[in-house]
Amino acid sequence: MSTQEYKVAAAQAALDLIEDGMKVGLGTGSTAEQFINLLGERVKDGLDVLCVPTSKTSEIQAANLGIALTTLDEEPFLDITVDGADELDKDLRLIKGGGGALLREKIVAMSSDRMVVIGDNSKLVDTLGKFPLPVEVDRFGLRATLEMIAALTDELGLHQDLQVRESEDGGFYQTDGGHYIVDCSYGVIPDPEELADCLAMLPGVIDSGLFIGIAERALIGGPNGVEVYVSPYEDEEMV
Ligand code: A5P
Repeated sequence: MSTQEYKVAAAQAALDLIEDGMKVGLGTGSTAEQFINLLGERVKDGLDVLCVPTSKTSEIQAANLGIALTTLDEEPFLDITVDGADELDKDLRLIKGGGGALLREKIVAMSSDRMVVIGDNSKLVDTLGKFPLPVEVDRFGLRATLEMIAALTDELGLHQDLQVRESEDGGFYQTDGGHYIVDCSYGVIPDPEELADCLAMLPGVIDSGLFIGIAERALIGGPNGVEVYVSPYEDEEMV
């Protein structure tokens, strides 16, 4: 089976968690895209759900499939969010934001009773950090914020290579919220909690792509089917 088929299998497993009447957060990225496609089919068959997208891209896809959409201003409490990840470890600590939607993804995930991660088995790692960590920053004072991130991560003893993400048509990439993204290549992040806490202290940092203690479970497609990983942060009764 191919990576693409693993993604579809994980998306299908997440679809089984969706019930009539639920309010659902829709993630962003190629795996979330599969989930939205499958959800669209269920909606055509009569499933009644109300969804909040995490990006313009997911919003357009879902609207084209006839999925009813709302916003967190209308519906601030969601039942479930289904989203992909760029990396995850067995404690369900995630790196997200490869697609640039990390801030909205985190707001939507944390507005939900449950966040379920879907992905293929290449996303599962022993130690986070091979995938460059996206950090969303304010456009004001970009150079100063870069210096602060560099100084901070230096203090933490992390090897670093910081790149402001560029867009395909030249200039810096801007998120849906109009911010820049700094992709921080660390190679390994031995203490994701410490790094997330330190980055959060910098005034120019809007948020980092580290999602810790947010995902309730991960559904990972691979050669043995879809494997379920449950967060150690969750109460037994959630499982
Ligand atoms: C979007 O900003 C990201 O957080 C995606 O969820 C993440 O990059 C996973 O994307 P894929 O499913 O395309 O790998």
